[in-house]
Amino acid sequence: MLTEAKVIELLQSIEEPFLHKTLEELNAIEEVKIKEEKKHVSVKIGITKTGTAEQLQLQMKVVNLLKEAGAESVGIRFFELPHETIEKFRSTGEEGSQGLLSPGSKTTFIAIASGKGGVGKSTVSVNLAVSLARLGKRVGLVDADIYGFSVPDMMGITKRPAVRGEKIIPVERFGVKVISMGFFVEDNSPIIWRGPMLGKMLNSFFNEVEWGDLDYLLLDLPPGTGDVALDVHSMLPTCKEVIVTTPHPTAAFVAARAGAMALKTDHEILGVIENMSYFESKLTGEKEYVFGQGGGEKLAEELQTKVLGKLPLGQPDWNEEDFAPSVYHEDHKLGQIYKEIAGTIIESLN
Ligand SMILES: Nc1ncnc2c1ncn2[C@@H]1O[C@H](COP(=O)(O)OP(=O)(O)OP(=O)(O)O)[C@@H](O)[C@H]1O
Ligand SMILES: [Mg+2]
Repeated sequence: MLTEAKVIELLQSIEEPFLHKTLEELNAIEEVKIKEEKKHVSVKIGITKTGTAEQLQLQMKVVNLLKEAGAESVGIRFFELPHETIEKFRSTGEEGSQGLLSPGSKTTFIAIASGKGGVGKSTVSVNLAVSLARLGKRVGLVDADIYGFSVPDMMGITKRPAVRGEKIIPVERFGVKVISMGFFVEDNSPIIWRGPMLGKMLNSFFNEVEWGDLDYLLLDLPPGTGDVALDVHSMLPTCKEVIVTTPHPTAAFVAARAGAMALKTDHEILGVIENMSYFESKLTGEKEYVFGQGGGEKLAEELQTKVLGKLPLGQPDWNEEDFAPSVYHEDHKLGQIYKEIAGTIIESLN
């Protein structure tokens, strides 16, 4: 004789197909009803995504179990589990298996930050990532500038990430695995999101992307000390930081705020990169300090760290066949400086 209690007992140890937790753990069994005369059982069950093949399989499992136990007919309705439940079990479920954010992870996170916009964070992130890869490291790059993503264009990425099962496969370019909001937006349309969405997006960049084993994961942060920067700080407690500034002393002053934020959250600052430091004449080799001088040193002193390198003004050589407008070639003057900086970073982390 089937009772409601018996039905619950039968169903509660079934695994939900997306989260791999039992229906009991997920609190996913609602409304069990039995019509005695017809031996008809109806249940309402929660699942991560309705209308999926997984739902069909779960449905078959439930029907078989109940029929074996004596039900003549079974009616199932599915509802989507509450978001909080999914988030809660998804994060604990995947951290362990994937490991990028797990305590035992061997990946070093390096965030590229600055106090203000336009100083060259994205350019530095891209070229540092490429240079680390040129030195044989396994490198990932997250374009964490959710609104102002620019990495795909800068690296000349035209492909979109593939999806394998539940995971997104990052796009590989110059040996760097890249993920950017730009991959998920149609026609370069602007994104209007509120604060909490940003954190979720970042979270999925870590948890839903198949990064594989990485030595370094670089994050190109949006300018300033806003939501995303804060999220990165709290999400990645062991993140290292590189602060980019221009040589003007007031720029360094603003950048110091980004640095202060890093220090407050115990993020180790690896050093300062001074970008657009000078213009070097090709004809005479003379250096002109068009944006002033001393910003990098001033900032490094203030943050009690070192200047990792100074990058002059200069454009990459464009290659029509393999177009990547912001990537400096290995033997370009700036490409060499980037390589030196990458080497210094590797050494300082050893
Ligand atoms: N050393 C350099 N020489 C010449 N141009 C440069 C140099 N570094 C960066 N640029 C240029 O300056 C502009 C701003 O650089 P970039 O987009 O990297 O800055 P950002 O700090 O990421 O900006 P945002 O705050 O908007 O994200 C770009 O057009 C870039 O090509
Ligand atoms: Mg940028």
